[in-house]
Amino acid sequence: MEFFLDTAEIDEVREIAAWGILDGVTTNPSLIKKSGRDFKQVVREIAEICDGPISAEVTALDTDGMVEQGRALKDELPPNVIIKVPCTPEGLAATKILSDQGIGVNVTLIFNASQAVMAAKAGAMYVSPFIGRIDDTGADGMDLIAEIMTIWDYYPELDTKVLAASIRNPMHILQAMQMGAHTATMPTKIFRQLVKHPLTDKGIQQFMDDWSEVEAAGKA
Ligand code: G3P
Repeated sequence: MEFFLDTAEIDEVREIAAWGILDGVTTNPSLIKKSGRDFKQVVREIAEICDGPISAEVTALDTDGMVEQGRALKDELPPNVIIKVPCTPEGLAATKILSDQGIGVNVTLIFNASQAVMAAKAGAMYVSPFIGRIDDTGADGMDLIAEIMTIWDYYPELDTKVLAASIRNPMHILQAMQMGAHTATMPTKIFRQLVKHPLTDKGIQQFMDDWSEVEAAGKA
C-alpha cells in the first residue's frame, strides 16, 4: 500500500520523508491557503523532497480550463507532479484528455462508487474517495472503500489506484489496508499516530534505565 502525506507544509514533508516510507504527497486549494504560500512554489519544493506522485489541483471548473491548467502545471513543475481534478462531467472529460496525453490524473471529491467507476473509465491514475467527510454525514466512509474494492476485484484490468482520502484516524488506514485500497493520503498527525505506542516508549525507557546501570557497573 502506498502512503501519501496530505499537506502543503514543507517541514512536514521533510519530517515524514526522513522516515523513508513516504510514497507521495497530495495538496488541495484549502491546504495551499492554510500554508499562506505560493501554490507552484510549494508544489515545486514538495516535488524536490519526495520522488513519488505529488498531486496539484486545478481550480477551473470547465473542461478546457482544467486541461489548460493541468498542462501548464505539468510544463512548469517537476515531472512527478500529477493533476488533481474534481469528479464532475467536466472533470471526467479533462481526465480523459490529460490521461490520453500521458499526464497522471487524480480524480478527487469522490463520494460514491459510481463516481469512482466513471473516473477509472476516464483513465484516472488515482480515484480519491473522501472517507472522513462521509463519516461526518453520519454514514460510514469505510463502506465506500469496501464497495469500490469489491468492484475493482471483478475487473483486474483496471489499473486505476484507489486512494483513500480525508483520513481522520489510524483505524481508517488499517481498515483501508484490510480492504485492499492501493493508497491512502493522510495528515502528518496520522503518520505519527501510526508509529506510536505507549508500551514502545515505556519499553525504551526501561531498557535505557537498565543500560545506565550496566554502564555504571563498568560492564558495557
Ligand atoms: O486531500 C483531500 C482530503 O484528504 C481532504 O481531507 O480532512 O479536508 O476532509 P479533509
